[in-house]
Amino acid sequence: MKSIVVYFSRSGNTRAMAQIAQSRTGSDICELLSPEPLPQDIRILHDNVVDLKLFPGKKSDPLPLPFDPDKYAVFIIGSPLWLGTYPDFFISYLESINWRGRKVFPFISFGGTRGSYYERLKEVCKGASVDLPFEMHTTSRSEEAREFELWLDKINNFTGNIK
Ligand SMILES: Cc1cc2nc3c(=O)[nH]c(=O)nc-3n(C[C@H](O)[C@H](O)[C@H](O)COP(=O)(O)O)c2cc1C
Repeated sequence: MKSIVVYFSRSGNTRAMAQIAQSRTGSDICELLSPEPLPQDIRILHDNVVDLKLFPGKKSDPLPLPFDPDKYAVFIIGSPLWLGTYPDFFISYLESINWRGRKVFPFISFGGTRGSYYERLKEVCKGASVDLPFEMHTTSRSEEAREFELWLDKINNFTGNIK
């Protein structure tokens, strides 16, 4: 069963997880980039994210994916949490996929404050079977790294891929 790791990462934490996921599951991998340059200053970025949440404006078309989603049955989807959820542009990329019959394994990197991100993902991946997420703290401990490997092995059991 063909699988792909699809992720966004601003400061590298999710990227590190995505690379482990790719090598342990033998999946393809694709990094989704912000369509606009992100401000370097974390306070300005934070304010921008808040503004977008409060004033989302008119809904735009989904962003074009840099890979062909029809080649994959399994999506391993990773992102940092921003204000308890996914960055809006990340969700926008996922909106163009026909999720019917597909399997999704989500993982996140976060500081420790969750929001309703899992509900949001299930909403956008309508028709897919969305597994329970794996959550890695920014200051992850070694037990979390081991748990992540075990979570990835569960994906291997599902796909039949050999690591
Ligand atoms: C704009 C912004 C908002 C964030 N909001 C949250 C949050 O709501 N909850 C949380 O636990 N961490 C939050 N964080 C921390 C990131 O999720 C965390 O640092 C993550 O590991 C970053 O992943 P990355 O290195 O792949 O970008 C936020 C970070 C940024 C930049």
